[in-house]
Amino acid sequence: MTPVAPIASILIVDDDPGSLLAMREVLVSLGAKLVTAASGEEALRRVLEDDFAAILLDVRMPGIDGFTTASMIRERKRSRYTPIIFLTAASEDLASMFRGYRSGAVDFMMKPVVPEVLRSKLAIFVGLHDMNAMLNAELAERALTEQRLRTSEENLRALASHLQSVREEERIHIAREIHDELGQALTGLKFDIKAFMTTCSDNAPPERVEKSKGLATAIDRIINSVRRIASGLRPEVLDEIGLAAAFEWQAREFQRRTGVRCSVNIAASFSDPDQERSTALFRVFQELLTNVARHAHATRINVALSQSRDAISLVVEDNGRGVRDAELESPRSLGMLGLRERVFAFGGSIAFRGEEGKGTTVSVSIPAMVSQQVFHA
Ligand SMILES: Nc1ncnc2c1ncn2[C@@H]1O[C@H](COP(=O)(O)OP(=O)(O)OP(=O)(O)O)[C@@H](O)[C@H]1O
Ligand SMILES: [Mg+2]
Repeated sequence: MTPVAPIASILIVDDDPGSLLAMREVLVSLGAKLVTAASGEEALRRVLEDDFAAILLDVRMPGIDGFTTASMIRERKRSRYTPIIFLTAASEDLASMFRGYRSGAVDFMMKPVVPEVLRSKLAIFVGLHDMNAMLNAELAERALTEQRLRTSEENLRALASHLQSVREEERIHIAREIHDELGQALTGLKFDIKAFMTTCSDNAPPERVEKSKGLATAIDRIINSVRRIASGLRPEVLDEIGLAAAFEWQAREFQRRTGVRCSVNIAASFSDPDQERSTALFRVFQELLTNVARHAHATRINVALSQSRDAISLVVEDNGRGVRDAELESPRSLGMLGLRERVFAFGGSIAFRGEEGKGTTVSVSIPAMVSQQVFHA
């Protein structure tokens, strides 16, 4: 929407009512709002009430004269840059003209004024004023749009973080259900089979005994699968052994499954952060390891987990092919987007650096203090 400029105002200051009337007649066709003042004092009051496109100021007035009025108009913030045109009698000398310019005049006009000249001069100021007003309105609109964008970005971030934690809670819930319901039922079943085997072991046909043993082994396998699925949903190790030990466990698991050597360096003084940060860092670590296994063709990974007073830092470095800039910026890189959102939710930072043929380094930093996420209306 193009902003509409408000109607410009012109202030005419003259102690002679006849001059004021004549000036009104000349300027009425400009379409501007014409405000009159019969003295310097009244003019000063008017400039406090309105923004003027220009001020026509008579030099000789009883009370505060035109020069003093102009200086005082200039001192006020609202009228500091308002163009002032002095109206002088033809007899005015050069010295007083200089005085006028020093006190802030942009022009001098001799009385009696030539109507066409006065009109065209003021038309320029009215045009400038309109343009200025339009620019200001546009700037204000742009600032408002930017503010709206910022708010909506903050809301989206807060929403993403909220969804992340809802998802994490849901996973905990499902993991617990699977673990408790299925795990207990299967363990019960295993005991039943064992009891069955002891009651019929003496005189049972050997194939039945074999079958029962097979069933017990199958149930063991299912129990292990259930455990694996449940701990994939919720990193149980975190609750059991804490973040530092869970990192080491995950690295060992990764090395065993992929054959990629994975060494973890954690400072002896490292103490586990709160549950939210632990979960986020562990998930970030898992996603980074998965990326290395899937994309890097690396043979080695170095992991460093450290902590300062203000932040926890994680650096994962592989010696693979090196992630490319295009991959980092691709909107299809959803895994990376998820990593960023997880880290940004804590007000943290994540940086990826890939070097062709040499490897990828990912540096994550999460502030130790909780930065509150709020929704804005
Ligand atoms: N350690 C790495 N070494 C080399 N390339 C990598 C590495 N990590 C990521 N990439 C590249 O960056 C791309 C984006 O990674 P991202 O994790 O976002 O997606 P993805 O792993 O392909 O899929 P997903 O959404 O399942 O995670 C990958 O497809 C891969 O090409
Ligand atoms: Mg990925």
